[in-house]
Amino acid sequence: MGKWWKKAFGYQIYIRSFKDSNHDGIGDIRGIIEKLDYLSYLGINLIWICPFFESPMDDNGYDVSDFYNVSGDYGDMSDIKELIAKAHQKKIKIIIDLILNQTSDEHHWFQESRKSKDNPYRDYYIWAPPRIIDGKQTEPTNWASFFGGSCWEYDQQTNEYYMKIFSRKMPDLNWKNPKVREEIINIAKYWLDLGIDGFRLDAVAHLGKSELIDSTYQTSEKYKPEWEKYSNLPIVHDYLRELNQKVFSKYDIVTVGEVGGRALVEDALLYVSPKRKELDMVFNFDHNWCNNGWNRKKGEKLKINVPLMKEIFNKWQSGLQGKGWNAIYWLNHDQPRVASHYGDSDYFQESVKMLAVCMYFMWGTPFIYNGEEIGMTNPKFKSIDDFKDVSIHNQYRINVLENKQDPDDFINQVSYSTRDNARTIMQWSNEEYAGFGKAKPWNMINDNYPIINVKDEIEDENSILHFYRKIIDIRLNSEYNNVITFGKYQQLAKEHSQMYLYLRQYRGKKILVICNLTCEKVKMDELGYKIKKIILSNYERKEVPFEFASYEAIVLEVE
Ligand code: GLC
Ligand code: CA
Repeated sequence: MGKWWKKAFGYQIYIRSFKDSNHDGIGDIRGIIEKLDYLSYLGINLIWICPFFESPMDDNGYDVSDFYNVSGDYGDMSDIKELIAKAHQKKIKIIIDLILNQTSDEHHWFQESRKSKDNPYRDYYIWAPPRIIDGKQTEPTNWASFFGGSCWEYDQQTNEYYMKIFSRKMPDLNWKNPKVREEIINIAKYWLDLGIDGFRLDAVAHLGKSELIDSTYQTSEKYKPEWEKYSNLPIVHDYLRELNQKVFSKYDIVTVGEVGGRALVEDALLYVSPKRKELDMVFNFDHNWCNNGWNRKKGEKLKINVPLMKEIFNKWQSGLQGKGWNAIYWLNHDQPRVASHYGDSDYFQESVKMLAVCMYFMWGTPFIYNGEEIGMTNPKFKSIDDFKDVSIHNQYRINVLENKQDPDDFINQVSYSTRDNARTIMQWSNEEYAGFGKAKPWNMINDNYPIINVKDEIEDENSILHFYRKIIDIRLNSEYNNVITFGKYQQLAKEHSQMYLYLRQYRGKKILVICNLTCEKVKMDELGYKIKKIILSNYERKEVPFEFASYEAIVLEVE
């Protein structure tokens, strides 16, 4: 079967914030249909749509109560069918989230499961009795949840705890149970038979859990963040091989796993090595925190940690190439906006364009996240009410309400990293509600929508949007298509403390990508290659400069 996805350019849609077609304040499927022309104009040929299944929306749809139905917030089955057909007419493929690790506590499996210890659905989830320590009833283990607090929730009805590594409304499925695996296989088949082109496998690294033994981490927290207790365990690969054999291999699709939890290149290879027959590629999180964000003082500017970022890119590019496919991206709905995180507000256009060059000439299938292509930024959070993310509210309860952290300190601290950064309303125009719809949206709109929006950027040929369109076009449609898709990656000037340089080469064609990751000007000696052509430049250069300007990026054909 043809590996079409090697030549795909992906675009992630956070449906709730994307476009509201029926003016109830919530993005929806028909909103995506309305914007298919825009997506064609942008030039992408693959979309990943975040969950739109029936859900109480504790975690905006990652808490599914019915995998076979569309949430009323977003439309109905006929809308999805129409979206698939219309996207396909425009040669845009669609992947959706396959949510494997958990369901909502309102899913009927869980409603049954919690009723009694002998319920036929009991083993669909992970239940364990309390422990008595120093005469007090305690959780079965001291493991932390990703969303704060314990990874266990007490359920009175049967006097046991259920595991929940995310929110208390998201009980973890018990993948040891073959019936659970069968259910997920059926769900996957159902959506593939409807015509979707693959899956992003949510939280896939966490399907296997270790023996229920306490973490020995010596940290001050009550619950220990030893993610290795439920990340990337060998058993996960057995589950994936089963899914691959029974479903994925039977369709011409793409599968992209979300592999967090401190995954190494070696871990990633186990998922994507073709001979192992598991997944086509994975998203790793390694490059997501390469700046001074965690430790900076109040008011201090964010700055890229250049050596660290270079090392990480090089590790993943060189580590996977020739051994398995790769996915490249700056951010998704769980991360801050790249323009704020790694960009520089004093050189906004330059730095944001440079970042795009830096990432999207690398090797692997790119995924951009809605709004990235216009340079959307993190919003300003003023109070706890500005946050929608369940994990922030959990942490607020623990840190501020229970442990008396100063609320302003808390907001200052989480603003840098919160997932809410990426979830503000898509900025379509400078009209009311940023052109999202005619009703007040469910979430914040960034104050900067009058200047950062799709409509104005379409009209400005120097905009970030046009720059992204150029990159996508060069990647997919130019004579450089093969060298960017398949070319060998090689980092140059490895030790340079400001510049990131890499060469891509394929069948005699070579392109050289040069990025200044800092605001300081940089003189570079001889590049060592003969320049044939300037393919792209964020300073619109006609000649390669002797001195590179702040955040300058240039892509050259060389020999
Ligand atoms: C993934 C999703 C995230 C979600 C979590 C639980 O990390 O990207 O948004 O909260 O899984 O499903
Ligand atoms: Ca709507």
